[in-house]
Amino acid sequence: MNPFYVTTPIYYVNARPHLGHAYSTVVADVLNRFHRMCGQETYFLTGTDEHGDKVVRAAKDEGLSPLVYAEQVSELFKTLWPELDIEYDYFIRTTDHVHVKVVKEILQKIYDAGDIYFSEYEGAYCFGCERFYTERELVDGRCPDHNTVPEVIRESNYFFRMSRYQDWLVEYIETRPDFIRPERYRNEVLAFLREPLEDLCISRPKTRLQWGVTLPFDDRYVTYVWFDALLNYVSALGYPDSDLFKRFWPNVHHVIAKDILKPHGIYWPIMLRAAGIPQYRHLNVHGYWNVDESKMSKSLGNVVEPLDLKNQYGADAFRYFLMREMVFGLDCNFSEKALVQRINSDLANDLGNLFSRSLTMIHRYFEGIVPKGDLAPESNLDLDMKSAALRSVRECREAMEEFAFNKALMAIWRFINQTNKYIDVTAPWELAKRKAQREQLQAVLYNVMEGLRVIAGLIYPVMPRTAQLMQKHLGLPSADAFQKFEDLDVWGRTIPGTKLPKTVSLFPRIEQDKAQSTGHETLEPTDEMPHRKPEISMEIFQRIDLRVATVLDAELVPRSKKLLKLRVHAGEEFNIVAGLAESHKPEDLVGKQVVVVANLKPAKLMGILSHGMVLTAANKDSCRLITVDGPSEPGTPLS
Ligand code: MSP
Repeated sequence: MNPFYVTTPIYYVNARPHLGHAYSTVVADVLNRFHRMCGQETYFLTGTDEHGDKVVRAAKDEGLSPLVYAEQVSELFKTLWPELDIEYDYFIRTTDHVHVKVVKEILQKIYDAGDIYFSEYEGAYCFGCERFYTERELVDGRCPDHNTVPEVIRESNYFFRMSRYQDWLVEYIETRPDFIRPERYRNEVLAFLREPLEDLCISRPKTRLQWGVTLPFDDRYVTYVWFDALLNYVSALGYPDSDLFKRFWPNVHHVIAKDILKPHGIYWPIMLRAAGIPQYRHLNVHGYWNVDESKMSKSLGNVVEPLDLKNQYGADAFRYFLMREMVFGLDCNFSEKALVQRINSDLANDLGNLFSRSLTMIHRYFEGIVPKGDLAPESNLDLDMKSAALRSVRECREAMEEFAFNKALMAIWRFINQTNKYIDVTAPWELAKRKAQREQLQAVLYNVMEGLRVIAGLIYPVMPRTAQLMQKHLGLPSADAFQKFEDLDVWGRTIPGTKLPKTVSLFPRIEQDKAQSTGHETLEPTDEMPHRKPEISMEIFQRIDLRVATVLDAELVPRSKKLLKLRVHAGEEFNIVAGLAESHKPEDLVGKQVVVVANLKPAKLMGILSHGMVLTAANKDSCRLITVDGPSEPGTPLS
């Protein structure tokens, strides 16, 4: 069944989970859900990296043993992920016995094959990184990560003969363009491999560090934390003999950020090669989240806690923001203001408004029952909804396969906006006024329901809760599951006659406090509040002759409850028949200045010729005249 295996880095337990960890793990979850929708069998691994000096020091600061401390922090990660609707299949800890056993087995295997040797070494050691640095790697004699001067230490240690594999690795990467992606990171690894590759020190004497996996061939040493950590990807599947390992390992996708490119792009393929394990399939590398334009760090106090954001804005909105905002592979800036803007414009206004106005109409005009979608052959009311939907399904799929999550969401949102426009153009509330147009009304709203079904299906990987809520309210059988991708490729799956439950609002708008407000407020959605109309040029707008007019006379139109006949002066005098009788008394209008469309084609209303239109701001509850804020000469044009 075309298996798909996705992994996140296993996170160090020396710090609480933050935005960066959440991003990688959400990416893995989105991919996992997407591949499930494509009918694949999937496996999703995450976990915690618990050995090493960093953890010992953090535990000491808390007055705890490394194991108790690691357990506590590991639990924070483990319990955070379900809060963000991350459905991993397995959570690995490097302190698990099964993992430790695999690490020892593989160390022994490589040792027996002659790729691990014992040697005395003197070098510059950074305690922060827990590794030796070569002269070439230091920046002005300092550790590039910690900016500290490493200590020179002399030690006898075990070394992994990486140098032997350099040429093989270069060739392997060069002949497989998508082994490491995006390309910039592949180039970075290749550039590094242009210099001679040094052997890797893979042991730490227990005199210095006990918190690790003891070397199977020398119990005076523990292994280097990276040698231990990378093996989680195979130990978690039950390497070497399990069924799970055989099925999933050949289809593994690793997701990491650029900070750990070297261990994954160089050490890991060589370790696999030396241990006789087939190579991983793809290494997918993303950029870094900065916060308010600075690097996230405890000392700057700008560490973003994912749980706080989820509690405030909801898991789906947070996931949407992460996927929509970052271009996979590049760095990105996080700000709460940008998050709120996205929620208000993309989620509340575009998607939320579409959903609520559509369902309100189904409830209002069809008592909550999905109408029939058959169209009279001469009707052009299905416009190009179907092809727009299919295009968005195709583009979304292609983008997801390329890890271009932002593009996938853009393709979905283009379709959301097309559906909103379709409603504006077909104006179901007008069709509903005339019995003869019942069939058209049915067809339009069926198309809208079908569009919403496709949208719900497409957003599922990123926003599973919203997708399922939408599906429930669209009366779809997959209410608590996901739709298959192949079902999104077919137009017409919504079943007419389905009774829909009472509707809900998907995303409430969030008020930006004044300091954050951009001033570009969007409208509260109501059922008949039209979405913005399709764009027009200035030239078209200027063809409308808007003028100030003074009402000279006003009277009720006989036999009409709604209409008034007005005599207006707008440079010249003419009659307008306006639907103002329910909101205005004729005598109150005389002498008032209003705004009229002066060049509207004349039309007969109740037998009276009307030569223009009075502008009002009207909805079902009120009708207000548009006027000028001081006396103006009748006929003054508006600009
Ligand atoms: N334990 C190692 C990984 C071993 S994998 C075999 C480690 N852990 S970590 O806790 O430091 O996590 C690093 C990873 O967390 C990054 O590769 C990335 O996935 C995520 N991020 C941490 N900070 C990040 C940002 N500011 N932005 C984006 N992701 C980042 O390294």
